[in-house]
Amino acid sequence: MPTDSPSPGGFPTTRLRRLRHNPQMRELTREVRLSPAQLIYPLFVRSGRGVRQEISSMPGVFQLSLDELEKEVREVQRLGLGGVLLFGIPDRKDAVGSDACCDEGIIQQALRLVKRVAPRLFTVTDVCFCEYTDHGHCGVLDDSTGRTDVNNDATLALLGKQAVSHARAGADMVAPSGMMDGMVGAIRRALDEAKFAHLPIMAYSAKYAGGFYGPFREAAESTPKSGDRRSYQMDSAADPAQAVRETALDIAEGADIVMVKPALAYLDIIARVRDAFPGVPIAAYNVSGEYSMVKAAAARGWIDERAAATEIVTGIVRAGATIVITYWAKDLAGWLKS
Ligand code: PBG
Repeated sequence: MPTDSPSPGGFPTTRLRRLRHNPQMRELTREVRLSPAQLIYPLFVRSGRGVRQEISSMPGVFQLSLDELEKEVREVQRLGLGGVLLFGIPDRKDAVGSDACCDEGIIQQALRLVKRVAPRLFTVTDVCFCEYTDHGHCGVLDDSTGRTDVNNDATLALLGKQAVSHARAGADMVAPSGMMDGMVGAIRRALDEAKFAHLPIMAYSAKYAGGFYGPFREAAESTPKSGDRRSYQMDSAADPAQAVRETALDIAEGADIVMVKPALAYLDIIARVRDAFPGVPIAAYNVSGEYSMVKAAAARGWIDERAAATEIVTGIVRAGATIVITYWAKDLAGWLKS
């Protein structure tokens, strides 16, 4: 074969740069198109009045009292975001996290307010105990094993109570995040019994232990007083197929949407879960540490926040997430418009 004849499909017949030659062509051939409707914005709610307390490790993210939350959700509703994910910081913490299940608890008050002032805003609640317990673990403790550990089965009943209380206060979806075995099934049964069979569950199915939740724990005041979460959250070095097993169990127990968390260091897990469960919507949590890293570098002028954040969220969607929970949700809604 003469060396000067182009191989079919090869250069110079094929020039992939034609696909990127101008903005119109790049826009026309895009596969991933971010939309505010697929973004969920986390919010931290506490008691008081006029409280708008910035989280030092998360510039632009605040703990809000209910009156400030009111302003915030009106704005979020206008931006057309997919929803908000509410976290509550109670005034009083105890061993079993009572405030979490109380109809007058902080999150229940927040839900009623949001439903009143922004009725079209989709509200999701984190169903867990770490913000509500005095020890900071995601369930009730069991000392009978000789070491402090979360008692899985005792926690399940309380998770059901918490979810029903959120549903009664107006939650549109509940998102259990404690990585207890059987948590989705327990919550599904509790909701069904309380006549909330229509209420969806977004399960934190593959949630990994690690270093990326640090800033969140400042925001939610949920750092464990002792020990860590490695006996319930997944091991990042475990066989990735374990994430598929976790997710399969949650789907079998009734999860409507499954989540991978964190997102950035777990893009392979998102892609794997996507392949394993066609038709199941996948959410990914672009967690606090992923946000703070970019914020810190941007504050020093080392990185362009808008470019980096857009690229990160695009990557998460490209990996297979339909929904992204991100502290950049509001910013992205603005950036996508301009
Ligand atoms: C647990 C919960 C955590 C996050 C969301 N839900 C923290 C944890 O497991 O310690 C982390 C979110 C983030 O880092 O942005 N209720």
